[in-house]
Amino acid sequence: MPDTWAPLADRFFEYYESVQGHVRTHLIDHNLRNHLPPPPADLVDVGGGAGHQALPLARDGYRITIVEPSEEMLRRASDLLAAEPTEVRKRVTLVRADGENAVSAVEGRRFAGVMCHAVLQYIEDPSVLLSALAELAEDGGIVSLVVKNQSALVMPPALAGRWSEALSAFDRTQNTCGLGVATRADTVEELGRWLAQREVRTSAWYGVGFFTDWWSSFNAPAVEPGEDLLSVELEASRRDPYRQLGRMFHLIGVRGDGDRATSIPS
Ligand SMILES: C[S@@+](CC[C@H](N)C(=O)[O-])C[C@H]1O[C@@H](n2cnc3c(N)ncnc32)[C@H](O)[C@@H]1O
Repeated sequence: MPDTWAPLADRFFEYYESVQGHVRTHLIDHNLRNHLPPPPADLVDVGGGAGHQALPLARDGYRITIVEPSEEMLRRASDLLAAEPTEVRKRVTLVRADGENAVSAVEGRRFAGVMCHAVLQYIEDPSVLLSALAELAEDGGIVSLVVKNQSALVMPPALAGRWSEALSAFDRTQNTCGLGVATRADTVEELGRWLAQREVRTSAWYGVGFFTDWWSSFNAPAVEPGEDLLSVELEASRRDPYRQLGRMFHLIGVRGDGDRATSIPS
């Protein structure tokens, strides 16, 4: 299969080094951990890229399978893993496959947690991928999705003063991401409906990236991602009205009847 992510890998790594990248990792990791069972548990990260989201969990004792179609991203995941202690390396398995084929790629295994972060926006019709994600979760397992937020598409053009573009963005469902790739955007309600059709009910949702994400549209203050900044973003990710205008949102679903959630903002 052609590796469409290979030319984007450098810029993707740069993003993770930025303030926005640090905020994203902090928010997703903190909010997800409120819902996961304690380690050790088996997790799968579909479209896990170079393992930026999976590695902190593996360090804390989770066993993680990264399913990823890009050979280049998997190579970079191997490089990052090589710098980890042996016991962390042993907890991570790399599998090359599309998310749509993940169930057969992991030979029908089921997981306590299924992550798919910042992938659905690149998939024109996400229905097959969503079915695979639901199927990968065991009964009571967590499905953790991070997607582009349709409700916030108006923010970048409006903050940049591109008013006619901003006006049309209220009803748009697509834009171009920071890597220059065309992306789809979703709403919490619609994603929740699609998951419900697959026996996954929405348990909680959070915003991802509010204050710092919108700096990049005008004057980015030169600051480090210190504890105060991370705390403010984390609080905003959990509260209305802020979470509604995050650049992305993070939805936590639960497969079947079980529920492991410990803190559930509605
Ligand atoms: C923006 S990166 C996100 C990586 C990782 N989830 C993270 O948050 O750091 C998008 C990833 O989705 C992967 N991807 C693209 N199409 C996919 C598909 N059909 N199934 C699974 N992953 C896919 C790309 O190869 C890339 O690694």
